[in-house]
Amino acid sequence: MSYSNEDLAALVREDSVHKSVYTDPEIFRLEMERIYGRAWIYVGHDSQVPNPGDYHTTSLGGQEVIMVRGSDKKVYVLYNRCPHKGAKVVAEGCGNTGKFFRCPYHAWTFKLDGQHLAAPMKNGFEGTCFDPKHPDFSMRRVARVESYRGFVFANQSAEGPDLGEFLGHVITSIDNMCDRSPVGEVEVVGGTFKVWQPSNWKVFYENLHDTMHANVTHESSYVAAREQAQDYGSMPLELHIMDGNGEPYGFWEKLDLYAFENGHGYMEGIFNPGAIETDPVSKAHFETLKDAYGEEKALGILGQNRHNTIIYGSGSPHTVFQQFRVIRPVAVDRTHVEIQLFRLKGAPDEIYKRGLMYANLINSPSSNVMPDDIEVYGRCQEGNLTRGGDWISMHRYNGTDKPIEGGMVATNGTSELPMRNQFRAWKKFMTMA
Ligand code: FES
Ligand SMILES: [Fe+2]
Repeated sequence: MSYSNEDLAALVREDSVHKSVYTDPEIFRLEMERIYGRAWIYVGHDSQVPNPGDYHTTSLGGQEVIMVRGSDKKVYVLYNRCPHKGAKVVAEGCGNTGKFFRCPYHAWTFKLDGQHLAAPMKNGFEGTCFDPKHPDFSMRRVARVESYRGFVFANQSAEGPDLGEFLGHVITSIDNMCDRSPVGEVEVVGGTFKVWQPSNWKVFYENLHDTMHANVTHESSYVAAREQAQDYGSMPLELHIMDGNGEPYGFWEKLDLYAFENGHGYMEGIFNPGAIETDPVSKAHFETLKDAYGEEKALGILGQNRHNTIIYGSGSPHTVFQQFRVIRPVAVDRTHVEIQLFRLKGAPDEIYKRGLMYANLINSPSSNVMPDDIEVYGRCQEGNLTRGGDWISMHRYNGTDKPIEGGMVATNGTSELPMRNQFRAWKKFMTMA
């Protein structure tokens, strides 16, 4: 069916949403146009393309793009399309293309910023409208690109707020991840984990602050961790991070959930690996930050114990474990998740190893935790395809959200405020003129 703005608005109620937002391919198509065509979306980190000619392919709302370091050292984001017959210029992946891109079909070449460089057999163009200076004969750039502390975001629309305004308060999560480095910089290390999720993209964002699921969905891993800890006679960090999911409802209830404009948000930390008095790794980290920033600021940086952050449309940076789970919608029922791990430049190596452990044990495709979530996401997709009902409930603590600057806070950490907030943003983008 085709949807008017009124139809789309009617799919989102104050306390529930219609299931077609997860299952209708036409809605997915509109989302790619209206959300992914208008929002600032994380493309990658500039440490992934350190030298001129380095490139990484990725996608922005289904549009294949290339992030590339130009000969002027700037990062460009180009649509992966040759203006001749439309061939994809670069195969999926990363590498160094040298001084220019060359299309594999008829060898048109392009500078690293996308500008047309040359086409073979110039005499064939004489007397035609072909003009190598005209943008129609260059690889097209995504309308806007902005980098914040090395995190490169692109926007397919030339209109609308700049990156800082779009991110609002949630930018503090990027700041905190970078500030945890004594030189204020992070870099992507190693390859990335890739997970194919058999469901709609939005369910991942909802789950990031869904504290009601942890001790149900992840029961097998926290029970196993607790049994293992009994054998050891102690709970090492490796098991502690799984054990956390088994906290009772009363524990989650005490956390604050923050929800901001444009669907963003974060939740308070659930683990406390920053315990600088008790944990030698955190203590060593604190010392390097104290030397760099002074004691007060170092305490403030490590004292910000934040669990998952949501940058709506992009994914989820995790400041304490220096990761970014990048969420790329592929189809209405298929989502690609890429897990990037960052090194805090200048910080003790143990901090990197701890992040690596967290990535392996919690967020990797073969971890003890993430596959549980993938299973239930798939079940939501399948259940919503049945005739067993049309609406999805987001009632928990509706009506109790407290306004804060730029958003809302729920002081009952089991509130479904984050989902309501995301759908407020969804409705705003989807029904914008
Ligand atoms: S399609 Fe690229 S050169 Fe022909
Ligand atoms: Fe989970």
